[in-house]
Amino acid sequence: MSPNDMNFDDYDEKNFPRDEVTDFDRVVETALSRRGFLGGVMTFGLGSFLLGTSAMTAKAEGSKDRFGFSAIPASSEDTIHVPEGFEWETVISWGDPLWSDAPEFDEATRGTAATQARTFGDNNDGMSIFTRGGRTVFAINNEYTNTDILWGNRPEGKPANEDDIRKGMNAHGLSVFEVAQQNGKWTVVKDSDLNRRVTADTDMDLTGPAAGSDLLKTAADPTGTTSKGTWNNCGNGETPWGTYLACEENFNGYFSASDKEMEIPAEFTRYGIGVDDWGYGWAEVDERFDIAKNPNEANRAGYVVEIDPYDPTATPKKRTALGRFKHENAEVVVAANGKIVVYMGDDERGEFLYRFVSTGTYSAGGDNSALLDEGTLYAAKFNDDLSGEWLALTPEATGMTAAEIAVHTRIAASAVGATTMDRPEWVASNPAKTEVYVALTNNKNRGISGNAGGDEAPVDGPNPRENNVYGQIARWVPAEEDHTADAFTWDLFALAGNPEVGEGLNKGSENINSGNMFNSPDGLSFDDNGLLWIQTDGNYSNAEAFAGMGNNQMLAGDTTTGEIRRFLTGPNECEITGICWAPDRRTMFVGVQHPGERGNSHYPAGGTSVPRSGVVAVRRTDGAVIG
Ligand code: FEO
Ligand code: CA
Ligand code: CA
Ligand code: CA
Repeated sequence: MSPNDMNFDDYDEKNFPRDEVTDFDRVVETALSRRGFLGGVMTFGLGSFLLGTSAMTAKAEGSKDRFGFSAIPASSEDTIHVPEGFEWETVISWGDPLWSDAPEFDEATRGTAATQARTFGDNNDGMSIFTRGGRTVFAINNEYTNTDILWGNRPEGKPANEDDIRKGMNAHGLSVFEVAQQNGKWTVVKDSDLNRRVTADTDMDLTGPAAGSDLLKTAADPTGTTSKGTWNNCGNGETPWGTYLACEENFNGYFSASDKEMEIPAEFTRYGIGVDDWGYGWAEVDERFDIAKNPNEANRAGYVVEIDPYDPTATPKKRTALGRFKHENAEVVVAANGKIVVYMGDDERGEFLYRFVSTGTYSAGGDNSALLDEGTLYAAKFNDDLSGEWLALTPEATGMTAAEIAVHTRIAASAVGATTMDRPEWVASNPAKTEVYVALTNNKNRGISGNAGGDEAPVDGPNPRENNVYGQIARWVPAEEDHTADAFTWDLFALAGNPEVGEGLNKGSENINSGNMFNSPDGLSFDDNGLLWIQTDGNYSNAEAFAGMGNNQMLAGDTTTGEIRRFLTGPNECEITGICWAPDRRTMFVGVQHPGERGNSHYPAGGTSVPRSGVVAVRRTDGAVIG
């Protein structure tokens, strides 16, 4: 099987099978306590506990429609649909030139290493818009490539030469470029002095507690303070001081070993680093990716990378204080006391939810460049009684050094007994209220097997379903409305499900119905109106458990009433991920990732064209504000 046939988690699992949960007593005990939990709180029937009392009260009293659109039906068509009164168009697609010396996308060759370095990267994911001095700049992650598409001009979708592999390396990273409106259409400003491609070869600095430690030293960098390249950048974040955060997710799949008999240390196994890569072939052209020769190189990936979108010469910084794991996004909040809080998910079955709290405080217009280098990392513990706490990952609590905590973060979080989660994807903080949401996308191992570190993943409060194929959105309220407080209370905003064919909890929560059902929530973001936008990366078969859900989609949720409406449906075999708004809020930008990942899409050009990831602009036909 190639990585094209499996998702990242399945591929990891094939290489490192997880232990099955066998502690029968514990399973029974958990089931009993869960019954107590549900029985005690579910006063209004299925779903009420999920929404919480305040939400249900608001719904009962009725409230004004905050959506500004009518819901659309599910779709299995190879295009994008938006509600009546809205229109969409493509802004940029994989392989579009950022400089005028680069050619337009070549359908026959799908580009070369050289052209890919001057064009928009592949599989765009998280993105942000920055504006300064009347100029508007996009920073967009280019997460990964689908080998069958990138190398679709080669036999079996495999690289034919070194240039093919380097094309793949250049398709990763991120794309930074200026845009401007021309005749009402958002257009790339080619040759802008702000345009930049960051790839697997871009020089970076390593900062924070792990910088300079032995864990990060390599033959190429005996100081352990620099690093080359970033890849598999999934979700994103923005700081109040105007920088972009690119989050390294499945960084492990790019390393392999020339010595197939090499003994893999437990620290590598925990992260899915092994002797085989996922088909990218990078070690064939660069020994950095050969863990038999450069084992510490793998410790130099898996971080949050801070990038200045206004200075293409600035060296990106890997902020080790924010921990090393399969980072989804980085939701940055300025707490009431001025400290910077960053909420982060680790997207793997049975891994954890994290929080970073800075030591220093934010100063508007001041020097904030070191705020993400010093602070405390925490992992979340959720209790079945709807309480929870942040467990500090300190040397005292974990028995690890500060550098070890920053590099082997998963092991530190296991040591303090954090709650194993159903694949935490994006975290979104409500700008109008001190509350935070996280998409827990799915977990077929819930109640069956634990994580790669041996932590069990029993059915519990925020992860209430065995073999969770639909996912849920949890939320928490920090104690005393203080994001730096260690205590919180939580509930579930939505339990995705199928009310038509599901049984019990698989029907979903009360706010899920046949008109809005979806699976595998992933991207989450609030707009300035306080609506929560939900993007999905799930099963698009539209059959059996997923019948009626159609292609991946984007919905909006009113977090006060709990109502959820479908806003956009994507083309075949895509994921909808990445969202941001134009400065005047009259355009919403949405990412379309990996259309045709199994060979059944010709989005966006149609006909027999190569499917290409891209960003679309969505506007109201009356030009009014959207979001
Ligand atoms: Fe790249 Fe967890 O999504
Ligand atoms: Ca994602
Ligand atoms: Ca996902
Ligand atoms: Ca993705």
